[in-house]
Amino acid sequence: MADQFNVLVICGSLRKGSYNAALTRALPGLAPPGMKFVTAPAFETLPLYNGDMQEVSGFPGPAQDLAAAVRAADGVLFVTPEYNWSMPGGLKNAIDWVSRMKNQPFEGKPVAIQSCSQGPLGGARMQYHWRMSMTFLKAFIFGTPEVFVGNAATKFNKDTLELTDQGTKDAVKTQLTAFAKFIGRVKAGV
Ligand code: FNR
Repeated sequence: MADQFNVLVICGSLRKGSYNAALTRALPGLAPPGMKFVTAPAFETLPLYNGDMQEVSGFPGPAQDLAAAVRAADGVLFVTPEYNWSMPGGLKNAIDWVSRMKNQPFEGKPVAIQSCSQGPLGGARMQYHWRMSMTFLKAFIFGTPEVFVGNAATKFNKDTLELTDQGTKDAVKTQLTAFAKFIGRVKAGV
């Protein structure tokens, strides 16, 4: 039997018609056997990170929920747009909150990234910034193959937002298979 891996999916877009959210919905059909996806708890109600607030009232509920979900996962997959050549502020804020917790949950956690953008580079610049933040948090960042979905409007059905582009499906499938192996190696300590 294939190993079972639970992968927490954190989507960086809050938009109803989001291409990144649409990509997360395609994941189960492209995953290797044994890889299951869990949707991250919502983070959009988090206040902006403020150390004074943390000292006075502790961590807000959504930050605690997100941290618990990261801890419970075998791996984390960020699927997120690029905003102004970097990561979306809301997503960064959520990770800033989680990162201040004792035994911060990204340490030693396998992490992979996918991004969709309506520009031609598919969010590449955001991915490199995200890798830097995750490196600081001592996550184990999955390297290649990378998934950049550029010109996203041409890769999803206009009405249903179903992923239609075969090249993208192949790229996601290849990455998820390699990420499953990576998670297995991290869990086995090799
Ligand atoms: C963008 N967009 C964008 N695209 C890109 O390729 N590079 C960028 O730096 C930016 N910057 C940017 C900033 C902000 C504030 C917004 C709202 C948008 C366009 C972006 O790729 C497009 O809106 C995507 O559709 C966003 O992803 P979702 O919401 O469809 O998942």
